[in-house]
Amino acid sequence: MIFYFSGTGNSRWVAQTLASMINDTASDISKIEVIPPLTDEQQIGLVFPIYAWGAPEPVVSFAKKLQQTGAFTFGICTCGADAGMALRKLSKNFHLDSCYSLMMPNNYIIGGTNMDVEKKENCIQKIKSASAALQIITQEITQKKPVYRVEEGAFPRLKSSIANWGFNHFAKTTKPFYTTDACTGCGLCEKNCPAHTITLHDKKPVWDKSCFQCLRCIHECPAAAIQYGASTANKGRYTIQKYL
Ligand SMILES: Cc1cc2nc3c(=O)[nH]c(=O)nc-3n(C[C@H](O)[C@H](O)[C@H](O)COP(=O)(O)O)c2cc1C
Repeated sequence: MIFYFSGTGNSRWVAQTLASMINDTASDISKIEVIPPLTDEQQIGLVFPIYAWGAPEPVVSFAKKLQQTGAFTFGICTCGADAGMALRKLSKNFHLDSCYSLMMPNNYIIGGTNMDVEKKENCIQKIKSASAALQIITQEITQKKPVYRVEEGAFPRLKSSIANWGFNHFAKTTKPFYTTDACTGCGLCEKNCPAHTITLHDKKPVWDKSCFQCLRCIHECPAAAIQYGASTANKGRYTIQKYL
């Protein structure tokens, strides 16, 4: 069984692609109310995006609830550049026999002006390389071969401790979210929010206090009407759907 969390589709695509290659099932963590029985599973995998060199909060809390069985376990993170020590840390909550990172198109557009979506050619190249890497990962998982192939980047300890702590405690505010006049009140953001933090009031989305910062609402808005403070106004939007 492969469990995944995904904001803009990269990790969902990885989980579903891998599931079809190893003849397994991929389940969305944000839609699971009760964890299914796992005792008969050959392998248990967690697939998720990197948020500030850590695993997203819903993934960490899900991993804490998972029971270790005799199954081979693995974690695969998708990231724009590097993952720090996210998988080593997650493995303390749920032991992972194998850990991988896959570089995928970046969706973090709420930082400085240099943090935008990547050029189309870059996105295509990254998805192509990840596809090739998944072929190898498939073989290794099928052989239950323990592997640690993670791009940790520079200063991984510092990034996955202090920076990740700062992100989880201060950066996940929803205050900067707003919609422009382009908002049609379609309600897709409310329907799709994995944190269930958005509700429509007078046909306009209103965000509760905090969210996972998956940025799905911003990237998937059909009218590109959702902004986050001043940081997203002149930036592109990304979903893997555009590339499949
Ligand atoms: C809040 C946030 C923080 C991020 N932090 C990192 C990071 O620390 N390192 C990195 O390489 N990519 C980072 N990214 C980029 C994503 O990990 C990457 O684009 C990922 O593949 C998105 O997966 P998804 O489409 O499944 O949501 C971040 C993205 C978001 C939204």
